[in-house]
Amino acid sequence: MPNDGLQIEPIAGALGAEVSDVDLRSLDTELVGQIRAAFVDHQVLVFRDQELTPDDQVAFGRHFGELDTHPFVEMNDEHPEVLDIVTEPEDRVGANFGGGWHTDLTFMTEPDLGSILYAIEVPPAGGDTLFASQLAAYDSLSDTMKSMLDGLVATHSPDRQYGMAGQSKTSKAMVTKDGVDASSETEHPVVRTHPESGRKGLYVNPAFTEKIRGMRRDESAALLSFLYEKGSHEAFTCRVKWQPGTLTMWDNRSVQHFALHDYAGHRRHMRRITVKGDRPV
Ligand code: SIN
Repeated sequence: MPNDGLQIEPIAGALGAEVSDVDLRSLDTELVGQIRAAFVDHQVLVFRDQELTPDDQVAFGRHFGELDTHPFVEMNDEHPEVLDIVTEPEDRVGANFGGGWHTDLTFMTEPDLGSILYAIEVPPAGGDTLFASQLAAYDSLSDTMKSMLDGLVATHSPDRQYGMAGQSKTSKAMVTKDGVDASSETEHPVVRTHPESGRKGLYVNPAFTEKIRGMRRDESAALLSFLYEKGSHEAFTCRVKWQPGTLTMWDNRSVQHFALHDYAGHRRHMRRITVKGDRPV
């Protein structure tokens, strides 16, 4: 496949684009720059028909920064930057990795900038991933709501997912590391300014956000519930249908995502790497 410049076709109104005519194994600086710009602009980029070994995927990811490992989930034995996300045919529906709206790793002080997911084995139907633009969700709010949110800070914790009673402990789809403390909390602004585009977006998610600082628990729960509804409204979403060889990269600074489990009885195997990010402001 020759690399003669990028062909970029949006897949939905608010975010997401499919990029064609590019072989991710042979990129020059010019193309990497174009992909990076398209990534910030479209927030989710989909590349079809790629033939990537784990090393190829790692090399591609390194064009965008240093790669991370997952603090709670076992990484691939031979490739420490690679996380295999496998759902087996017998796995309970809804217990899949990423099976709910979330932004990756917001419980960290410096959450990852983006994730790069490659499809190895997909079910005959279903198994799509939904993405939602938190920039578009923020833009849709009234000026009064925006100014109320702008100074707010929320706590985030891995505990509900990865703590002793967390969802991942009951899920066969994730092999969690033993003895890692998941009780930590970190704080992030409720509205984040994207470090590259300068656009503002919502930065709370139902998987890891615990509470808005300075509010009573019922007040915080009501506001968060409103923001989660906005942040996953269909108007701000796009949907990626996978085929073996599809690679999708998404900007964790501006999107939430949801891995649908609507393929009980079938296997799905994806390979993920993540790129380190900075402290949200
Ligand atoms: C994830 O949350 O990173 C997993 C997404 C997917 O498997 O589609």
